[in-house]
Amino acid sequence: MLTQIIAHRGSKGTRPENTLPSFQAALQDGADGIETDVHLSKDGHLIIIHDEKVDRTTNGKGRIMDLTLAELKRLDAGATFDPVYAGTRIPTLDEVVQLLVKAKFTGIFNLELKTNKIHYDGIEALVADYFNHHPVPFKLVYSSFYPKSIERLHALQPDAEFDSLFETKFKTAKRLHAEHVIIGYHPDIRWVRRHWLLLPKVQLRPWTVNTERDMRFCYRHRFAGLITDYPGLAHRLRVKMQGG
Ligand code: G3P
Ligand code: CA
Repeated sequence: MLTQIIAHRGSKGTRPENTLPSFQAALQDGADGIETDVHLSKDGHLIIIHDEKVDRTTNGKGRIMDLTLAELKRLDAGATFDPVYAGTRIPTLDEVVQLLVKAKFTGIFNLELKTNKIHYDGIEALVADYFNHHPVPFKLVYSSFYPKSIERLHALQPDAEFDSLFETKFKTAKRLHAEHVIIGYHPDIRWVRRHWLLLPKVQLRPWTVNTERDMRFCYRHRFAGLITDYPGLAHRLRVKMQGG
């Protein structure tokens, strides 16, 4: 089995993160999967963006939860990365899913519920409802730094795959794994390197694996996957080390 390459916020290293051009590039770069983050707008839309605020990645200001979809759509989510991408918009979950469906994507879609800082009321039910009404050709993998989101979604969509994200809360991850709520771990690569000898025999997909040294480490140990801002580089290296 090859180590799966999962594009972090799309091809974040070479495109404006969490935008349609970034997801398109990830597919062209040979990624086996896409990782992305979801929040909830003021008027209840599922919005694809990393931060709780729009300030860092767009020309706007404010929290997603205080802005409507129409207000979010007026913002430029490309020019901050590079003026070449001016006019790029913040996508909704549905727009990203439609792009993947059109591209006939059958890989892993790792949706992270960004609920650890703001516990968006009802976001788990909205996400489950969306996927229950939109059958997709790809594999849905949920993750979150907020274990309650994982538990709520698991109750609503028991057939999806759940993986635990953690930085230090290894105990919570172990409990959820023992309870068969989560299948695998998505730990910080720095944590993996420090705890290498203690690592349990679970499916591992560390983040954010951006250096050749860290990529080689993941390939050498045949981890299930790696999450990277540079899927193109990861792919070229995997061909050399794992032959595909
Ligand atoms: O899924 C791994 C990674 O995305 C978690 O960190 O901050 O990039 O969402 P972050
Ligand atoms: Ca994420």
